[in-house]
Amino acid sequence: MFPKQVYIKRREALKQEFKSGLIFLPGNQDVAFNYSANIYTFRQDSTFLYFFGINHPNFYGIIDIDTGKDYIFGNDICIDDIIWMGRQPSVSEQAADVGVELTKPVDKLRKFLKQRKKKKQKIHFLPPYRGETKIEIEKLLKIPIAKIPNKSSVELIKAVVKLASVKDEYEIAEIERTVNVAEKMHTAAMRTVKPGMVEREISGKIEGIALSYGGPVSFPVICSVDGQILHNHNHNNIMKAGDLLVIDAGAESPMSYTSDITRTIPVSGKFTKRQKEIYEIVLKANLEAIKMTKPGITYKSVHLHIAKIIAEGLKDIGLMTGDIDEAVKAGAHALFFPHGLGHMMGLDVHDMEGLGENYVGYDNTLKRSSQFGLAFLRLGRELKQGFVITDEPGIYFIPELIDIWKKENKFSEFINYNKVETYKDFGGIRIEDDILVTENGCRVLGKPIPKTVDEIENIMKS
Ligand code: GLY
Ligand code: MN
Repeated sequence: MFPKQVYIKRREALKQEFKSGLIFLPGNQDVAFNYSANIYTFRQDSTFLYFFGINHPNFYGIIDIDTGKDYIFGNDICIDDIIWMGRQPSVSEQAADVGVELTKPVDKLRKFLKQRKKKKQKIHFLPPYRGETKIEIEKLLKIPIAKIPNKSSVELIKAVVKLASVKDEYEIAEIERTVNVAEKMHTAAMRTVKPGMVEREISGKIEGIALSYGGPVSFPVICSVDGQILHNHNHNNIMKAGDLLVIDAGAESPMSYTSDITRTIPVSGKFTKRQKEIYEIVLKANLEAIKMTKPGITYKSVHLHIAKIIAEGLKDIGLMTGDIDEAVKAGAHALFFPHGLGHMMGLDVHDMEGLGENYVGYDNTLKRSSQFGLAFLRLGRELKQGFVITDEPGIYFIPELIDIWKKENKFSEFINYNKVETYKDFGGIRIEDDILVTENGCRVLGKPIPKTVDEIENIMKS
């Protein structure tokens, strides 16, 4: 937990964004895995963590803008709980740690909210992403579940995004610590991978490393020789010499801050000439994005510049052709680079995505494109100092997509389908770093993780 002043300051800043009303922030509950006593690992709601910091189930936070008071609703545990789970600090002790003086048991919450509704105080809440929270909101605020999305507060979403997008020194240090856990995960994989192993031997090993540093992985590990499948969670392939292995994996810190790192490595320990050619293009794209990233620039413009680097690189080896500016404008490069350059990171690996991607990545001055490829860019808006974002270009050869585009003769003025046909067995390459936007540029967070061809081949040799 951060010092309590951090949470007090955050709640005060949130109050400044409103003229009146009440902010209701339910924390998460335990969720049944296969029966009610066997639960998923508890994960607190990120917005609750941001403003109230308490990492326990069944707590509710209230910020009353009209009176300036903050409340925590939670239940002290009883002897039955102590028998099974051991002693826990009281609700008031936990609340005091985050600077909240007023606590009440959960069974008082319904009446509390009812009275505020009666007084016509506007109750702001965020769109819930879990079924359990939807049921709680329905019960507590008497809003039918189907109507909850429309009744959630856009004002609150915008205020949370405004505050939580800019990371403070404590958060940056915490994210950097968890990038350093990712460094251990990825370098362990590089030292272990050998032809004949099954992918899950690697994914299991690196997930274990995350757990050993006090947090789970920050999203299900992607560890696949089918790297062209962007979010591939199958880990059952036997890895062969000549395969490329894409590992996209990060850790959550004990305070739930995240890392998100991708490296692509040759299973044999040595890239082939064809793999190296594509790898160098992706690496150039990753490095150019680092050079360009700074406050005041939109990430959409960085993304589009990177798309041109990728398209130029593919033209140099004969996979694309024609005018590169025109090709990128038309979206032809998206056959090979169908996703966005990056997203926000923080307490969520796609930070605040539960509040609505467009509120996080776009604003009044920049709307999301509907063009294939660009539409998947999660972060397009102008960057500010203190943002933590990913830089994750990639090149993929997706046989199903190639077949469809080729049949449609799509962008045949920019794509050399005859040559692309010969790459349908290639897989994919992605390189991803977590970067902090600084006063004049950006900084790659964490201990450097082998990234060049030589660095990767050297560590795999050791
Ligand atoms: N690392 C997975 C993603 O960014 O979607
Ligand atoms: Mn990512």
